Parts: sequence; C-alpha cells; structure tokens
Amino acid sequence: MKITKICCIGAGYVGGPTMSVIASQCPEIQVTVVDISKVRIDLWNHSDLDKLPVYEPGLKELVSKTRGKNLFFSTEIDKAIDEAEMIFISVNTPTKTYGKGKGQAADLKNIELCARNIAKVAKTNKIVVEKSTLPVRTAGAIKSILDNTGNGVDFEILSNPEFLAEGTAIDDLLNADRVLIGGAETPEGQIAKDALSSIYEHWLPKEKVLQTNVWSSELSKLVANAFLAQRVSSINSISALCEKTDANVAEVSRAIGYDSRIGAKFLNSSVGFGGSCFQKDILNLVYIAQSYGLQEVADYWEQVIIMNDYQKRRFAENIVTTLYNTVSGKKIVFYGWAFKKDTNDTRESAAIYVADALLDEKAEIVIYDPKVPESQVYADLDYLGTRLPEENRRLLKVVNDPIKASNDAHAIAILTEWDEFKTYDWKAIYEKMLKPAFVFDGRRLLEKDTMTAIGFEYYKIGQS
Ligand code: UDX
Ligand code: UDX
Repeated sequence: MKITKICCIGAGYVGGPTMSVIASQCPEIQVTVVDISKVRIDLWNHSDLDKLPVYEPGLKELVSKTRGKNLFFSTEIDKAIDEAEMIFISVNTPTKTYGKGKGQAADLKNIELCARNIAKVAKTNKIVVEKSTLPVRTAGAIKSILDNTGNGVDFEILSNPEFLAEGTAIDDLLNADRVLIGGAETPEGQIAKDALSSIYEHWLPKEKVLQTNVWSSELSKLVANAFLAQRVSSINSISALCEKTDANVAEVSRAIGYDSRIGAKFLNSSVGFGGSCFQKDILNLVYIAQSYGLQEVADYWEQVIIMNDYQKRRFAENIVTTLYNTVSGKKIVFYGWAFKKDTNDTRESAAIYVADALLDEKAEIVIYDPKVPESQVYADLDYLGTRLPEENRRLLKVVNDPIKASNDAHAIAILTEWDEFKTYDWKAIYEKMLKPAFVFDGRRLLEKDTMTAIGFEYYKIGQS
C-alpha cells in the first residue's frame, strides 16, 4: 500500500518536527499538520521562521524547504482527515488532574476526541497511528470507538511511539536508533505496518525499523523513558552522597560509565529531570502496575520520581541554608528556565519547582532564559497555584539582559545548561554582585577552580 497523503493531528513539539522530517524526506507525500489552536497554526505559517511555535535546531530550515510544497499547517481538521490515507494522532496526553487516577494516569480526553472526530469524518479506509505516548491497551479503546461510531469503513490502528528528545529532535528523527511500529498480527495489520515502515525506510535502513505487536510497542515507550529517568535519578542520588564526602559525582559517572555494560550516557547529575515525558510516563507506568495489583512494581518505579523531587527540593534548600538560612528579600538570579538546553519547552522544568520553593521563602527572583518568554514563566508558576498570580509577578521578574540582572544580586543559580552561560564574563558579573557572591550550579556547567579564583562562593551539584 502506497501512502500519498498524511494528516497529523497536533502541531506540537512532536507533531511539528516529526512531520517536517517526513515531508522533507518523502517529497511525493503530502503532509498536512492540523491543530485546534489557530494561534499555533498561524505561528507555524508565519513568514518569519524565528516565530515558529517550537524552537529546535535545524527545524526552521526544514520548514522553509517544504512548507507550501508538500508540508501544510492548517486548522481545517476534517478536510485533512478526509483526504489522508494515514492519520497520526500527536496530541498531548497530560497527567490527569481530576477523578480516578488523578495525579498518575494519562488523561485520554484529547485522544478520544480525535478518535471520535476521525470516525465521524472518514469515508474511506484509514490507518490511524498513535504518536502520542499512551497507556498500554489504548489502541484497543481507539479501535472500539472507530469501529462503533464510524461510517462502516475499516481502520487499522498502529502504535508508533516517538523517541525524539527535545533540543535534538531533528537529528534524533533523521538518525534514529530505531523506529518502533506496533500493529495487529493480522494480514491487514501487516499491510498497515509495512506502509508505515516504508515511510521511514526513505531515510533509515530497514533493520532499524522494528515491528512488534501493539501492546509491546505502547509499553516499550513507557519503559524506555522510565529506564532513562531512572539513570538520572540513580546518579542524582549519588550526587547527594558525593556532596557529603570528598567524592566527585563527575568522576564517579565517568568511572562507572566506562563499564560497557553500564555505558556513559545519561549519567549527568543535575538539579533534576524535567520535560513533558519522564514524570508523566513513569506515573503512568506506576498507575498501570497498580491497576493490575502489582504494588511492588509500582513502588519500585515511583521511587524514581521521589528521588527527582528530592533533588529539586535539596537544591532549593541548599540555597536557603547557604544564604545564612534566609532568602527573604534577597535577589536571586536564575540563569535558565527551560527543562534543558536548546529548547523553549518548560514543561516540568526543575526551575519551576526551585523558584516555587524560594518564593515560599520570600526571595526576590529574577529569571533570564534565552528562549523562554516572560508569559511562559508566569504561566508555569501560576499553574502550580501556590500563591496568587499578582504575588508571583511582584516577587519574580523576567529579564532580557543576563549581565545587568546580576546587579546587586546575592546569588546566581544555574538551572539550565545553555552553552551561552559558559561564555559570560563571570569576572564582570562578580563585580556587580553583592559580596559574598554565591553561584549555585545545578547543571555542573562551570569550572570550580576558575569560579573560586574570581572570588565566588561556588556550589556545584555533586561536589563537596
Ligand atoms: C507529545 C506527545 O503527543 C505526548 O504524548 C508525549 O508524551 C509528549 O509529546 P507534544 O507534541 O509535546 O506531545 O504536545 P504539545 O506540544 O502540547 O502539542 C499537542 C498539540 O495538540 C497542541 O498544539 C494542541 O493544541 C493540539 N491538540 C490537542 C489538538 O489539535 N486537538 C486536540 O484535541 C488536543
Ligand atoms: C525524553 C526521551 O529522551 C525521549 O526519547 C522521549 O521521546 C521523550 O522524553 P526529552 O524529555 O525531550 O526526551 O529530553 P531528555 O534529553 O531525555 O532529557 C530529560 C531530562 O533529563 C532533562 O531535564 C535533562 O536535563 C535531564 N537529564 C538528562 C539529566 O539531568 N541528566 C542526564 O544525564 C540526561
């Protein structure tokens, strides 16, 4: 089966970059990305490519090459569904904030709405691809909605989880370690799996495209993220121990990472992992395990989250203790708000929780991030609901000049590992700050010896 038209519902961090890569690698396929948000779609269509709603290195070049040729962004959802042979569902699936499974289970409201809409509109057979990360067995629910509310056409459901990491999305897509495609073990399922495989085989070798049954595919996504997050929590637990002893967490990481069974990646100790996936997917795994009565399994994975919360709290508490047990009225500058470098995404960023803890202590916080706008910072804090929005705006300011921000600051905290922070004139920053001038490096970005030589009181996570 040859695919000529693709529709992707959801023009977010996953849908946008993934479809840009497919369009650029498959010039004969027409790709239409739709979204309920007109604001988002307008930004994807903006003539100034620096206004795209997602910042990813290499993305604007791909969009400029394909947009208007075989890549389209639109709010005409029904039309795009109707025309496509293959429909990707790439909408967000946040953790539920209400009802059963609140705080753990994935909210599938958006997914169900998409399925019902597809069922309503489709007049020809469709392959529906789950791109969103979903709890195991969601494909079954989608299939049931489609089959029972549709116009009698055939639907094949595939699970095709996304493994791209933000900040390196384009490279991760173009040079994927593997692509996972789960589908029904029937002749029709096989045809659908092969149709999707052939899209990826435009640029990836066949052996990197793995086909599995649908449940293995859905579960693998949760498990991959759980294992990755577990490594970060494992090394972060050791960072606390290093700070109490003379061990250096970077040396420990290097020493264990040389063991080929362990491997060197994902062993950077930090102020805590963030991002839209790790916490959500682990909570989801915990919820699924619990719902099957596997409490020990649930407890085991929940500990990864508990350790991550501890790391964020520990970082904030260290700032308070070091600043003579009070930060009330003290100016603390944050370098970085995004959950990692090279992205404007702030979902679950450690910075949000560290700021929240310091605001509770009445600190005056000034934020600088090269890619995150003021409105997003306030939206993140207001979402927590810890204090009134006016209070957040009174105590916390967002600025565009990182150097000026250090004027009369008591401390600087590094929350995101943006490369530009390494290039700053730290001597000039030191001169502007109140003394003693404290730097709390939550990303192990700077050199201890250089910083101490300048005169800073410098604290690096994972080092005494
Ligand atoms: C993705 C995945 O889909 C999610 O499951 C994974 O765990 C994280 O990454 P992401 O692309 O990051 O989500 O989400 P987001 O950037 O919020 O984009 C989702 C888009 O879907 C939004 O633009 C939203 O407006 C749109 N949407 C949502 C629809 O078009 N229709 C809906 O019914 C709901
Ligand atoms: C992750 C997965 O890597 C990706 O495969 C999946 O599709 C989505 O979730 P993402 O959340 O975009 O991607 O970024 P990732 O690079 O995994 O980083 C997640 C968090 O862990 C970040 O806050 C990062 O700073 C932190 N991290 C990562 C560490 O603190 N130390 C490390 O060694 C690695």
